[in-house]
Amino acid sequence: MDIKQHPTLSYKKNKLHLSGTCIHSITKELKTPFYLYNVEALERNFLNFSNCANDHNIFEPLVCFALKSNPNLNLLKSLKRLGAGADIVSGGELKQALKAKISPMKIVFSGVGKTEEEITLALNSHPQGIYSFNVESVEELEMIAKVSKKLNKVARVALRLNPQVNVKTHKHISTGGKSHKFGILKSDIEGILKNKKLLKNVLLVGLSIHIGSQLTCLKATEKALKELSNLALACDQDLEFLDVGGGLGVPYHPDEPLSSIDEYMSLVSTTIEKYYTSKKGSHQRQPRIVFEPGRYIVANTGVLVTSVIRTKSSEENKFIIVDGGMNDFVRSSLYGAYHHVLPLNKRSGVLKASHVVGPICETADSFASNRELPPIKTNDRICIGDVGAYGFSMSSIYNMREKIKEYVIDKEGVLISHK
Ligand code: LLP
Repeated sequence: MDIKQHPTLSYKKNKLHLSGTCIHSITKELKTPFYLYNVEALERNFLNFSNCANDHNIFEPLVCFALKSNPNLNLLKSLKRLGAGADIVSGGELKQALKAKISPMKIVFSGVGKTEEEITLALNSHPQGIYSFNVESVEELEMIAKVSKKLNKVARVALRLNPQVNVKTHKHISTGGKSHKFGILKSDIEGILKNKKLLKNVLLVGLSIHIGSQLTCLKATEKALKELSNLALACDQDLEFLDVGGGLGVPYHPDEPLSSIDEYMSLVSTTIEKYYTSKKGSHQRQPRIVFEPGRYIVANTGVLVTSVIRTKSSEENKFIIVDGGMNDFVRSSLYGAYHHVLPLNKRSGVLKASHVVGPICETADSFASNRELPPIKTNDRICIGDVGAYGFSMSSIYNMREKIKEYVIDKEGVLISHK
């Protein structure tokens, strides 16, 4: 329950606040469970990210927010106003980014399974298509070239390198290893670069990587950036950009050791700068740097507010049963992820170790195990913290439960509903 250092959650007079706004006061009329986001926190995170890139003299940074982490339209519109682009992985995300009026020339399209229909949609969204298709196989490149030819367009493409690194994160979200489905191995990229036939009807504008998510240590990132730089060096043409992906971790648990944004930007800047100074004398243009952060921008901007249906004890176990379930928020069940569990109104009294569980018929339907919590009763409202990323976007209707609502606190402190 230690949120003393938390960037967005704090107690004032025993009432939980999200970025300065009292959650209870602003939401007491709303039916639980629901998601609540704060735009001010979102904008702060985005500006932290892009200002830090600028502080490290990163060349023309383009920050493409990863929509998969949170495609809420109100949040996207705010990010768009601050200059964000979008990292998308489906036709649905493309439509959502366009709805938020993000320019197609700031959209990068990742993913191993882009369909002909999705490629067509992207190419038709602007005379030049989109900023980049981040291509994950030779077969995909061939499909993009075929669709481009059919539409009489030239698709802008980047080749996503699989840098063969193993990152320290949950195995489900590690994506840069040799055995993973993502990216193209270096030798295959070299093959593509030599085979000009494969690059007909497309324009090679960049190279990309994305090695995983919730990265708390930067060792593998450093190795991957070096691989990316070396490969760029081997290209005998100017590249417009290098896309370094997303993945920067956030402190879900207060004791989790974590690399800072400053260390991250410093690493990106020095690795790529080294590469370019090593090329002194060559007339290669310095590529701009594209980022694809999701979690860093949005995780701590959101909470899931849920009510206690009842409590239950069995032998040594004490359960707090809430109306939100793993269908609404799955990270704890799927990855065993730690998330804060915080009563909106904190009572004083003895802390008790409890399991906080939902109504879904699976033992995995749990938000916290043996968590020491202050006294909690039926009808109390509690919130699960840091759920702004991969919360609503991963929710489902499992057990025939309806998708829950999302609310946003805007910059004036006014509550707005998503739909
Ligand atoms: N770019 C690409 C190509 C990605 O696949 C991802 C995330 C990102 C950027 C954004 O990564 P971020 O900065 O958010 O770490 N559901 C999991 C996370 C899955 C991440 C998938 N790809 C979770 O809840 O931890």
